[in-house]
Amino acid sequence: MAAVEVRGLRKVYGEVRAVDGLDLTVDEGEVVALLGPNGAGKTTTVEVLEGYRAPDSGSVEVLGFDPQTGGRAFRERIGIVLQEAGFEDTFTPRELVRLHAGYYPHPRAVAEVLTLTGLDEKADARVRTLSGGQRRRLDLALGIVGDPELLFLDEPTTGFDPSARRRAWELVESLRALGATILLTTHYLDEAEHLADRVVVIDHGRVLAEGTPEALAAAAGAATVISFRMPSGLRVADLPGVGHEARVAGSMVEVRTDTPTADVAELATWASGRGIELEALALARPSLEDVYLDLVGEAGAVGEAGAVGEAVDADDGATR
Ligand SMILES: Nc1ncnc2c1ncn2[C@@H]1O[C@H](COP(=O)(O)OP(=O)(O)OP(=O)(O)O)[C@@H](O)[C@H]1O
Ligand SMILES: [Mg+2]
Repeated sequence: MAAVEVRGLRKVYGEVRAVDGLDLTVDEGEVVALLGPNGAGKTTTVEVLEGYRAPDSGSVEVLGFDPQTGGRAFRERIGIVLQEAGFEDTFTPRELVRLHAGYYPHPRAVAEVLTLTGLDEKADARVRTLSGGQRRRLDLALGIVGDPELLFLDEPTTGFDPSARRRAWELVESLRALGATILLTTHYLDEAEHLADRVVVIDHGRVLAEGTPEALAAAAGAATVISFRMPSGLRVADLPGVGHEARVAGSMVEVRTDTPTADVAELATWASGRGIELEALALARPSLEDVYLDLVGEAGAVGEAGAVGEAVDADDGATR
């Protein structure tokens, strides 16, 4: 049985079609990443699955429950890390984790959760004194304390420093190894690539593409990307033949090619003949980022279609 089964989900806010006929399946034990630009409908989708928002139409089944009517029996089996959560500022992380542990029938040990999320040092500090990344760690702690079989993570590592992100990844991997099913959203393509069995790219509330990170990246077309730093004082027009196909990204030059051996040879002959060292020269498979940018466009979803009139406050949106 699938852990999450969504068919034709729609959610409208006034004139904005936040989710517009979305289909999504997450199998038991699978880690799925929802990717998409700001306003794509990721949070709305996840909040419907959590039972925080009522869908306008479509069918939604989560662990066999309708999230709207699943009640406590449903909530005991899921863990939630909201994109934006509010805390009682006067509590400490240890107190909040303990409080949340009390909502679940088989919680993890409070001390273990604080350690897993890197909060030992701040366990007894008032939440109001925590940094942004430390608060986010607390969100994560509250999401996992119930030892849920299904975990929703809405941008779990936004605001994390690089080592905290690595740690969170390890945490997700260990939860997955224990059999948890995880649906996460992220803007970090490396995070999706690293963690997800399957990636679902959405925009304007619809699925644009889905597949394993490798399969999606392969769909980007060319087999190989040659990249190097543009030698100072030179421009694309100065590069040899293959370089004319290049895309310039900041100080880097990227060439997509199906004949990397010949192209690298040409570049190398050209550069060494002029005594130029091609810095940061690298060969790579196209990344998820390449296909993502192809799918949603480099500009993203700025200038939302259909967003007319004032924003309508959700009538059914309950945040904790
Ligand atoms: N409570 C609300 N009232 C009105 N419009 C809303 C509300 N919540 C979301 N929207 C709109 O619905 C659309 C989808 O928003 P959503 O938060 O689901 O996007 P997202 O993919 O999570 O974006 P982000 O990456 O920025 O978190 C956006 O156009 C947003 O402005
Ligand atoms: Mg969001």
